[in-house]
Amino acid sequence: MKLSLAVLALTLSSALSFTIPSNAAHRRTVNSDTSMTTQLQATTGVARNKNFAKLAGGYLFPEIGRRRNAYLEQNPSANIISLGIGDTTQPIPSAILKGLVDGAAALGTQDGYSGYGAEQGKADLREKISEVLYNGLIDPSEVFVSDGAKCDIQRIQNMFGPDVTSAVQDPSYPVYVDTSVMMGQTQQLDEAKGQYDGIVYMECNEANGFYPDVAASPRADVVYICSPNNPTGVAATRAQLEETVKVCKERGSILVFDAAYAPFIRSSDVPKSIFEIEGAKDCAIEVNSFSKYAGFTGVRLGWTVVPEGLKFSDGTPVRQDFNRVMTTSFNGASNIVQAGGLACLSPAGMKEIETLIDYYLENAGILRKTFIDLGYNVYGGTDAPYIFVSLNGKSSWDTFSEILEKAEVVTIPGAGFGPGGEGFLRLSAFAPREGVIEACERLKKAMA
Ligand code: MLT
Repeated sequence: MKLSLAVLALTLSSALSFTIPSNAAHRRTVNSDTSMTTQLQATTGVARNKNFAKLAGGYLFPEIGRRRNAYLEQNPSANIISLGIGDTTQPIPSAILKGLVDGAAALGTQDGYSGYGAEQGKADLREKISEVLYNGLIDPSEVFVSDGAKCDIQRIQNMFGPDVTSAVQDPSYPVYVDTSVMMGQTQQLDEAKGQYDGIVYMECNEANGFYPDVAASPRADVVYICSPNNPTGVAATRAQLEETVKVCKERGSILVFDAAYAPFIRSSDVPKSIFEIEGAKDCAIEVNSFSKYAGFTGVRLGWTVVPEGLKFSDGTPVRQDFNRVMTTSFNGASNIVQAGGLACLSPAGMKEIETLIDYYLENAGILRKTFIDLGYNVYGGTDAPYIFVSLNGKSSWDTFSEILEKAEVVTIPGAGFGPGGEGFLRLSAFAPREGVIEACERLKKAMA
């Protein structure tokens, strides 16, 4: 009897999906497919983090990849060129590569072997970062070496917790907003505005040169500024950064300065670090990365500078809490990769970085000229690897799709960086030269 009831249940379930209540809080759903294999799909008794339910869709770059792959599935012979995600394409140059190889080889020797690193990074690399990239403006003890700026932004958010208000440039690199939502700093997405309630969006547009009026924006505890900017490609001037530091100090805000694109700065008197601005050590943290310096997007190496004197309102040093996050959730960047980082900062490595950056900046110049010749307003591309093109009122997602279909070129719709990016398209200069030239030929036809 018991057996035949079980057979009946299985037969019924071949067409149906049903739920077996096990207790009030925990239900199990059983599905059976037509091949008579029974699949159990269990839901647990664990409530979903309500902050994740607030997130509007997936992260931007996988979504771009999904659309690209969908196009490829429909058009298997398509020859797609990516000017989308800012991912480097040129091989790691020889002196830097040697650092990585030597770092790996050392692990095979008794003397060169090392295990868990210091969570803050190797002392010699922290010293070199302070000396070569900051000219001694910051102390090695203020440098935390990591696996990248993006991961550090999440760790910084862990440190701040849910009770702070964050302010972002609009448009901005999506990580600042998405991690703020994940941490519970926001309410729901306001669908009409495309903005989360609880975040201060600082408008960046053509009229203000894509730099926000921080003083005119409501006060926030944490202010995210990226310069040279992703996605607009515009680098903040010294005067703009001085004003921002002044406002943050007056308001008791912490400025999180993302300088990941600093090596692309070629204009004179544009600061490469927020610590070039007087008073910044009293209010700023800087995140940075070797990703775009040296083609380390896959290798993974970055750093964050937290000044010794920076304090929370109760007097606790911010560095103390950031150190607590790092020592708890990170075991130090790979020792091999840190050897590569040291090679980056040698005179030969710095020269190679300069050559790499020049190559990408020439690409950016080719992209700029193409769109200027087509009659578009173009921003960025002189101190940054991104150009930001005004679409004269056209929808950025529609233009993204149109370009993908007509030219088989992947771009990034400005709206993916926040509502302030609507009406713009971001193009990355990280493709190989021949790809950039070919893409420009196709874009001339598609966008004329
Ligand atoms: C971008 O395309 O915006 C960046 O490369 C993504 C990143 O750095 O995480």
